[in-house]
Amino acid sequence: MATATGLLGAIADVGVDRARGGFSRHGFDRSDLTLREWFVAEAAARGLDVEVDRNGNLWAWWGRPGPDAVVTGSHLDSVPGGGAFDGPLGVVSALAAVDELRARGFVPSRPFAVVVFAEEEGGRFGVPCLGSRLLAGTLDPDAARRLRDQDGTTLAEAVRAAGLDPDRLGRDDEALSRVGRFVELHVEQGRGLVDLGRPVGVASSILAHGRWRFRFTGEGNHAGATPIGDRHDPMLPASHLVLAARGAAAAVPGARATVGRVVPVPGGTNVIASTVDVWLDARAADDRTTRSLVEDVTAAAREAAAAEGCRVEVTEESYGDTVVFDPGLRDDLAAVLGGAPALPSGAGHDAGILAARVPTAMLFVRNPTGVSHAPAEHAEPDDCEAGVAALVSVLEHLAGG
Ligand code: GLV
Ligand code: MN
Ligand code: MN
Ligand code: MN
Repeated sequence: MATATGLLGAIADVGVDRARGGFSRHGFDRSDLTLREWFVAEAAARGLDVEVDRNGNLWAWWGRPGPDAVVTGSHLDSVPGGGAFDGPLGVVSALAAVDELRARGFVPSRPFAVVVFAEEEGGRFGVPCLGSRLLAGTLDPDAARRLRDQDGTTLAEAVRAAGLDPDRLGRDDEALSRVGRFVELHVEQGRGLVDLGRPVGVASSILAHGRWRFRFTGEGNHAGATPIGDRHDPMLPASHLVLAARGAAAAVPGARATVGRVVPVPGGTNVIASTVDVWLDARAADDRTTRSLVEDVTAAAREAAAAEGCRVEVTEESYGDTVVFDPGLRDDLAAVLGGAPALPSGAGHDAGILAARVPTAMLFVRNPTGVSHAPAEHAEPDDCEAGVAALVSVLEHLAGG
């Protein structure tokens, strides 16, 4: 019988990022395809029937597919240089839970599946929760097909290379209508459980959040030959944006604003850039606060661009309003777990996308470092097994007679 940590160990050499540290596993790249094949083999070894839906999400069915299925799972892709747990912990815990349920002689009395959602982090094509958004119909498939990775490969090309038909991407009511309830187990991305001294909790909500790309255009030129007064350097307004983002978020309790990616073109040490792309990740408790924070940052970026004689163009690449998880299901599961604490999530999840369509819950496993989206992300083996035990109890409760 597999343990969650044993299964994590089995994939520990896939997508190791020697340059950045941690793992870089991005939707439909070589390491992601290896992980997807690994999952299919693990599911088959358990006698689960794997279906690939129109958007590349993997569904491993224990018995007959839906309707009113109990579904659990998460994602296998990572951010660039991410940790070992964000995503895979939910998948391996689901497989370990199936093993434990089988060992107990449990037979689900309703359809049951383990799901792996495609490109949850948006690490390759920029849009997070790509597979679940397409499934739920909250992402336009035409726009999605045109998304490009850093090498210029489109999503349409990437999914075709992975054996999918890009023309079939998009809202999939048939696949989604089979889901009765969805439960995603995830490593906690903060110190809530550490501070409470508890190994497992349930999620209450997800912050409103989105991603915006600011493209500053100036004039490429020589770093030595161009007098300071003659420059239109897009790096100047880009830097103002970084500071404005921090200032705007610091002024609003609970808000977050991050610039984690900046791409100057052409990117030479002795070259004044001609354009700079800056990505802003902004989050807050509600839609109005998030939007007004982004408006403030945008105003500061426009002002700084004008002062340097540069242009700026802003594109919203993704957005999701606040998610409040089904309170009935959350309280039910917290009670099954003997009064597990409820915690808000600053991170986005596929569960947040599904929550708009089906009753959805999340279980969090304690992370002693509190760090996530970085190699220091961690969960102790005992806590991982406590997470599996919690998932077993929850699945027995939801899928039992
Ligand atoms: C995904 O984990 C996100 O919240 O960015
Ligand atoms: Mn993540
Ligand atoms: Mn995740
Ligand atoms: Mn996420």
